Amino acid sequence: GAPEEADISKIEPGALLRVKWRGKVCWIVRRTEETLKNLKENTDHLVDPDSEVPQQPEYCKNYHRSIKPEYLIAVGICTHLGCSPTYRPDIGPADLGADWMGGFFCPCHGSKFDLAARVYKGVPAPTNLVIPPHKYLSDTRVLIG
Ligand code: FES
Repeated sequence: GAPEEADISKIEPGALLRVKWRGKVCWIVRRTEETLKNLKENTDHLVDPDSEVPQQPEYCKNYHRSIKPEYLIAVGICTHLGCSPTYRPDIGPADLGADWMGGFFCPCHGSKFDLAARVYKGVPAPTNLVIPPHKYLSDTRVLIG
């Protein structure tokens, strides 16, 4: 499959853009300062907070799992059985629990991932979501693949 170029200039803070790469949905999320603080500090509920399992390129092996902290780029496919998790950026909704800091919820069997696509403990998905290889062509254009 060919690499996919995306324009990230219109993504508002907190918003998510969907792009297709090799037939898969990829998410590009623009994260806020508050979100980045949460990703760094709130990690007790995570299986693999430091991304020890190689689910990302080496250059994304950091707490935000990305090149630029502001932008998450992830493959939107649950690592349990391949459903599409939904984007739930809100903090602490009743159905997701008090430790919910915003992220992705898989409706198929209830797996939860944070806004760095890191998997929560106690859910069926075994690993963090996949981060695709990518690079920035400019401040506003990114190439996935
Ligand atoms: Fe996502 Fe099972 S496919 S929790």
